[in-house]
Amino acid sequence: MLKYVLYILLAIVVLALVAGGIHLYRVAAKNKAEMAQFSGPKIGYHNNLGKTLVIYYSLSGHTKDIADRISMLTDADVYEIKTEQPLKNGLFFALKMKKQLWSKEYPKLVQDFPDAANYDTIFVGAPIWWYTAATPVLAFLNQYDFKGKKVVPFSTQGSNFGTYFKDFAATAKNAQLQKSASFNNLPKKYDDAVDNKVTEWLNNL
Ligand SMILES: Cc1cc2nc3c(=O)[nH]c(=O)nc-3n(C[C@H](O)[C@H](O)[C@H](O)COP(=O)(O)O)c2cc1C
Repeated sequence: MLKYVLYILLAIVVLALVAGGIHLYRVAAKNKAEMAQFSGPKIGYHNNLGKTLVIYYSLSGHTKDIADRISMLTDADVYEIKTEQPLKNGLFFALKMKKQLWSKEYPKLVQDFPDAANYDTIFVGAPIWWYTAATPVLAFLNQYDFKGKKVVPFSTQGSNFGTYFKDFAATAKNAQLQKSASFNNLPKKYDDAVDNKVTEWLNNL
């Protein structure tokens, strides 16, 4: 009897590994096709978005990387959303965050938000957690007033941003929403293509 239970468990593990492998292969192929559009010579930035602010939260650096690229091109001020207790990505982290999303009990934030009134365009970057924004970004959106300014949401994720942009639109107060962009995490070899993707997006705002 125990032997059969072990066989079944083994079969489940093998199936999960195969499904995971197929998923990763498909994501890599999709990323390759998307980034092929942005290969080639460096695109120059030629827009003027006025006084610009980039607001972001980042746990492991991907969203910060895109925020830095935007701020470099647009000469923006940068504001990092900070939790009172820094979050640490350890054991059960994903489950804890899922619980926060269910209960809508988001982390407490350091209350030193910049005033939207000082800016013409405000970017807001979020890592995707469980198909929506990371909970510190949701906490921020619940509290922040964009005061009628142009607001440009962006995300970084493994492969699927879920309902983030819809959730953003439903939560951001007094935001004049502009064209958003999402960025899958990519290997370093795509760095120049990511630069071009960011620049083309900014040029078209
Ligand atoms: C708790 C948790 C949940 C996540 N959920 C998703 C998801 O639903 N979809 C996805 O594509 N990536 C998901 N990811 C991957 C992150 O969105 C991705 O690594 C992101 O770029 C991290 O940004 P950061 O480095 O700025 O923190 C998740 C990561 C964590 C830690």
